Amino acid sequence: MTKAFYPGSFDPVTYGHIDIIKRAAKLFDTLDVGVLNNSEKLPLFSVEERVKMLERICEDIPNVHVLSYSGLLAEYTLKSGTDVIIRGLRAVTDFEYELQMSQTNRKLNPGVDTIFLTTSLEYAYLSSSIVREVAYYGGDVSNFVPEFVAETIYKKFSGKN
Ligand code: COA
Repeated sequence: MTKAFYPGSFDPVTYGHIDIIKRAAKLFDTLDVGVLNNSEKLPLFSVEERVKMLERICEDIPNVHVLSYSGLLAEYTLKSGTDVIIRGLRAVTDFEYELQMSQTNRKLNPGVDTIFLTTSLEYAYLSSSIVREVAYYGGDVSNFVPEFVAETIYKKFSGKN
């Protein structure tokens, strides 16, 4: 059994993340999607809201489980018995940071490897902050996130949730 873990902020989850989740779920026996509970960042959505959105998206993928984690990623992977960390690479600009992160994580937990999936071309430009910004100004985010996520973002900005 190979246990994979896809960590991220997912604030909010986008089609780019969903693409990675679906492809990674086919490659590994189990895939946990982990929302980082990061007290230093001021997110748009609470961890619970982000977990809920991801759960809805992943409900039809039987080997995917959504959770939240806090603290060091390497420590989390050690205590959860994770074999593989999944990360998406969108462009060469992601590479340096991701390389550094994967090497640090391996130093801290030699039992874990990071596997990179290249983001599908149609989502290479996408990021959660772009989605937040477009939605903040009332722009159409339907090409970036599922409809229910778009509605949740608009509601958040209008103060209705
Ligand atoms: N498609 C679309 N967007 C993507 C994407 C994809 N496939 N992959 C990444 N992104 C975007 C995200 O939307 C996010 O956008 P934003 O910055 O505009 O909000 C951005 O890329 C960063 O992605 P994310 O995966 O959330 O990474 P992160 O840098 O916020 O966090 C963690 C990375 C959560 C894995 C890592 O910081 C962590 O676990 N930290 C815990 C503490 C720790 O262990 N630190 C030491 C690490 S060596």
